[in-house]
Amino acid sequence: MDTSIFSDDLQAIGVPDHKKARGVARVLISESEIRDAIHTMARELDEEYADDVPLVICVLRGAIAFMSDLVKQMSVPLEMDFMAISSYGSSTRSSGVVRILKDLDEEVEGRRLLIVEDIVDSGLTLQYLLDYLERRNPRDVRVVALVKKDKPDAIPVQVDRVGFTVPDEFVVGYGLDYGGEYRNLPFIGVLDPSVYNGEGAQHPQLEDPSQT
Ligand code: PRP
Repeated sequence: MDTSIFSDDLQAIGVPDHKKARGVARVLISESEIRDAIHTMARELDEEYADDVPLVICVLRGAIAFMSDLVKQMSVPLEMDFMAISSYGSSTRSSGVVRILKDLDEEVEGRRLLIVEDIVDSGLTLQYLLDYLERRNPRDVRVVALVKKDKPDAIPVQVDRVGFTVPDEFVVGYGLDYGGEYRNLPFIGVLDPSVYNGEGAQHPQLEDPSQT
């Protein structure tokens, strides 16, 4: 039984009328589409790790919703660990400045690692993370991302599984935020530009409305 407060019927006619969805222009990926995609990914990952216990790495904070649902759908035994990474705004992103705020607690040498990302945008964060982890001699590293932006100028980084490719618009929900809000939407939606342009915005206007 679907116990969500956001029924698909409501999503079919537009963005749910709920306080936490204010500022969302339209639903891009519904809750049930996310659920189905995660189910498919989980089955594939079960096959891939049939004989191993992978260390599944959640990239905080955005990937928390995806990670939580994905691991529950997987049938193989696994371990979880968490990393927090900060990438700087678009004015400095081209310089590749990425900083680790929280490192893994587990040793990774000789282990099979699965990086779980909510979104790959410029690809910078993921490229940094892959380089960083490879230096610690894991057995292998795979990447699963719920969303990948369709961006011709993105770094061609390794992503083994992608749930959805989305247009280069500002997306929020299901872990993805704007100014810290919207992460608890159960769907992914497109943010109305008026939110970050400050036209009667109910949310704080950030200096840099880039996705990350
Ligand atoms: C987001 C997202 C990815 C990264 C992708 O994290 O979770 O880690 O940006 O962007 P990129 O491909 O352009 O590097 P963010 O730094 O916004 O932190 P958050 O997860 O805490 O929201």
